Amino acid sequence: MKRKTVILIGSEGLIGNNFKNFLLRKDLNVLAVDVKNRQNTNKGNFIYLKKDISKPKTINDAVKIAEKFFFGADYVIDCSYPYMKLRKNLSSKNIKILRKNLAVNITNPIMICEMFCEYFKKKKKIGNIILMGSIQGIMAPKFDHYKKTDMNSPVEYTVLKFGIVGIVKYFAKFYGKNNININCISPGGILNNQTNIFLKNYKKDCLTKGMLNPSDLNSALDFLMSEDSKMVNGQNIVIDDGWSL
Ligand SMILES: NC(=O)c1ccc[n+]([C@@H]2O[C@H](COP(=O)([O-])OP(=O)(O)OC[C@H]3O[C@@H](n4cnc5c(N)ncnc54)[C@H](O)[C@@H]3O)[C@@H](O)[C@H]2O)c1
Repeated sequence: MKRKTVILIGSEGLIGNNFKNFLLRKDLNVLAVDVKNRQNTNKGNFIYLKKDISKPKTINDAVKIAEKFFFGADYVIDCSYPYMKLRKNLSSKNIKILRKNLAVNITNPIMICEMFCEYFKKKKKIGNIILMGSIQGIMAPKFDHYKKTDMNSPVEYTVLKFGIVGIVKYFAKFYGKNNININCISPGGILNNQTNIFLKNYKKDCLTKGMLNPSDLNSALDFLMSEDSKMVNGQNIVIDDGWSL
């Protein structure tokens, strides 16, 4: 049987790197795409493409590589977060940052869905796209969690992540009849050296654990990639230890 192939975008990040290791433990080919430098460890079922996903050419190149070295692409998982600069406050002085953040981070997932859906459709392949949302894409931030920290959650992040939920619904409806599934995973905060005060504030609104480990997302990824989720399309799977309750 032909081994299936995943194009994993943002493979060198906190969540992407965890997904990469998870996927490589399975019987899959992984074509990882990220802008970061990485020692060339291409071998057997793993190829690394150091490229910027905001360029349509990168998507075309990834498809070509998947076609040449594997049996084409079957799954696309986008864990990239291209423009990370977040405004510290709601000041119009920072309007350039706001514009860039919205433009890049909304354009990319739309382009990824459009181009890969067209690829799957043209090739008559069963396609599967998984995007990353966030708990900030299902409700307003819990502002009190940021008190006495230098962290914040600006309105653009909320807009971007609500946008992801809209994107998966739109494309699932548009391409679902072509046997293409498009869903997103919305995690709660992931542990990454946050201050104790923030961790404590955050945990107060959760049930058992509070902030998550990246590996807490693996079972949802596994489900969305499985045959069992064939009837799940255009949905947002929230994994947040009760943060949103
Ligand atoms: N970390 C969290 O707490 C958390 C919580 C909820 C949702 N999310 C979402 O999950 C996703 C991944 O988050 P993360 O924490 O792993 O982010 P991260 O910053 O650790 O990783 C993002 C990766 O994307 C890569 N990247 C950036 N621009 C790129 C480009 N133009 N082309 C290709 N690769 C590019 C970066 O090099 C990096 O490796 C994001 O959408 C984020 O909003 C994260």
